[in-house]
Amino acid sequence: MPLPVAIVDLDAFDRNTDALVAIAREAKKTLRVASKSIRVPALIERLLERGGATMRGVMTYHAAETAYLAEKGFDDLLLAYPTARLSEARLLAAAATRGKTVSSVVDEPGHLSVLQDAAKEAGVTLGAVIELDVAWQPAGVAHLGPRRSPRRTPATVVALAQEIAARPGLRFGGVMAYEGHIAGLTDKNPFTRLINPAKRLIKLASRRGMEATRAAVSRELTAAGLAPPIFNGGGSGSLRWSGEDGALTELTAGSGFLDSHLFDYYKDLAVEPACFFAIQAVRNPKPGMVTCHGGGFIASGEAGKDRLPVPALPEGSKLLGVEGAGEVQTPVILPAGVDVKPGDPIFFRHAKAGELAEHFNEYLLVRGDRIESRAPTYRGLGQCFLG
Ligand SMILES: Cc1ncc(COP(=O)(O)O)c(C=O)c1O
Repeated sequence: MPLPVAIVDLDAFDRNTDALVAIAREAKKTLRVASKSIRVPALIERLLERGGATMRGVMTYHAAETAYLAEKGFDDLLLAYPTARLSEARLLAAAATRGKTVSSVVDEPGHLSVLQDAAKEAGVTLGAVIELDVAWQPAGVAHLGPRRSPRRTPATVVALAQEIAARPGLRFGGVMAYEGHIAGLTDKNPFTRLINPAKRLIKLASRRGMEATRAAVSRELTAAGLAPPIFNGGGSGSLRWSGEDGALTELTAGSGFLDSHLFDYYKDLAVEPACFFAIQAVRNPKPGMVTCHGGGFIASGEAGKDRLPVPALPEGSKLLGVEGAGEVQTPVILPAGVDVKPGDPIFFRHAKAGELAEHFNEYLLVRGDRIESRAPTYRGLGQCFLG
């Protein structure tokens, strides 16, 4: 078949699903699917079905995506990244007019205003979930964690929750406190060997304070008569720790289901590669090396070597340090004794799970050596939410 293709190994995907669902189930919490790390509706649906009662809804990344998923029948949609534009808030309201439960993360009155205007126009109620910042700020100077919400204290969260409760058209949906400095920080990363121990220390040092803040927020909201209907935290990279946090009612995971290669580099996460792309070897610049067509699917985030795709098969294949993965040509050093002929595929893994879907119209869903079915990505469905 023509290359490139993107492939999901269904057996591995299902085993990863079972492993992550088991963590949430044992923790007696529900699990929300982070759609940004999947971007294939059929796979999101598969996750929700397989996870049964432990699964609760979808964490979306764009208002238009939220409306699209509502139209496709998905429910309990939480937009995790706020919008400040009325035109986008209207899309959330449109999703709610389909009878779906729709919420958005907020952290300032401006976010509330657009949601409220859209909700009033459409005659619906939208949930507003407050983002609590749990980044680690040692000695109050450094800031280790995502730069998202400015709300770091129970008092500032309670004040905004009261404002939500007082605004017709809005419903206080709860709190989200994502610990990006733990979930997003690889700690056995072969590309950062020297600083892996320091990363582990950061995680350990920040854990107790973060848990205390979450507990205090939950306590003070409850004391104010605004017990959070949901308290969301965690990501694939921190699922176990988040499971042990008594303040959280639900966890989120996305990347761990497909296990893009950055998720190999966590001490506490036992998942297996489930998503690949194959490109064609087209030439032999020298013995032991092939050059492939395409392959330059580089991940977002802090630039570094770990953002490159990694060759997965033939096992032991390597990229060239000086060329990396190029947009139209990618040289690969083959392991000794392995013969790859022009026309043969080389299989790679992307660093981040959702971004691969922006490069392909469909994923081949494979079991063993058989293509069981094909699933369109958002892109293949004509949807490109991040532009
Ligand atoms: C708010 C939020 N929760 C959870 C996650 C975790 O997603 P994943 O499991 O794909 O790492 C993310 C990822 O960025 C996020 O932004």
